Amino acid sequence: MLANEHFSVTPLDSILNASPEAIQTLHKELVRKGWAVVSLPDRFVGLTQDLSPQLQDFFSSEYKNKSLYLGKIGWSNSTHKEVLHYTTGTSLSIEKIPESFRETFVKLSNEFDDTLARLVKATSEPIFHLQENDWKQKEFPFLHDPTDHPNRFNMLDVAYYKNAESPPANAQLPTQNCVAHHDPGLISLSIYQSSPGLQLFDPESNLWYDGPLGYEFGLIWTGQAASDITQGELKSGVHQVVYPATLGTPRLSIWAELCTSEQTFSTKNMKWNENCTKIVIPNVFGSKPYIVPVMNGDLSSAIKTAERLLGMPRSKVMLRPSFNEDGEVIGFNR
Ligand SMILES: [Fe+2]
Repeated sequence: MLANEHFSVTPLDSILNASPEAIQTLHKELVRKGWAVVSLPDRFVGLTQDLSPQLQDFFSSEYKNKSLYLGKIGWSNSTHKEVLHYTTGTSLSIEKIPESFRETFVKLSNEFDDTLARLVKATSEPIFHLQENDWKQKEFPFLHDPTDHPNRFNMLDVAYYKNAESPPANAQLPTQNCVAHHDPGLISLSIYQSSPGLQLFDPESNLWYDGPLGYEFGLIWTGQAASDITQGELKSGVHQVVYPATLGTPRLSIWAELCTSEQTFSTKNMKWNENCTKIVIPNVFGSKPYIVPVMNGDLSSAIKTAERLLGMPRSKVMLRPSFNEDGEVIGFNR
């Protein structure tokens, strides 16, 4: 069943403009099932129409081209899907965006940030029961007070599910492209899927519904953090990605998530200090933890350093951390 045939479709711009009727509909949907279908404004439609053929070209290009952008931030590949993953805003690594569509992609990233900022503003009191200032105390990098926290970002993902007709021999494919789950963050906006696969769960009817296709419709869903903040009033939108009935057509999808600080780390062993200017990593070889400062607002470099420290088995330490005067790790000695 198609979600947009079965459920009300709210224009995203009406929500962003805080139309009482649109906010009420969204609230009802998020309380009921944690997701809502929205119609997208032209600015998203235009960007996605420009980008999607270029994204398809990139994913179907040869490994040599894609590997230029290989990384946790940038392009990654597994048996059943490829992903372009970024943190947006002040943390956007421009050089990790494929050159062929860099300019448009940056526009899309900025559009997501503007939209998520407006979405939080419009929903803050009526849906989350919070004043605008309350968000600054919470653990969302995008909503931190910019004077204390220079890095403000969301997470932006493009997934390319291969849906291969004949997967490589011995490939351990999962039973589904993505099993049923809810996201950890506050709220997500999904703006595109090129072919069927995404399904949303409606706890009231106990049924799965197909997400909308194409450029004009999208989805808003709330995550665990939204449910926690509202003491369970809002549901976390449960979703999954299934294989299509006929294999052979890859599926492209694009979404952004207003994430928690914790989500941006590959492991929960990394923690922020109190004002989020430093990353603290337990040192398994000694009593004192490693401290990695975020320098010149460059969050992705700090995370990279932190990840390397965390993943460094002692026997294979090829690089020694280099420290600043305060004993914080600022890089590595070769
Ligand atoms: Fe998800």
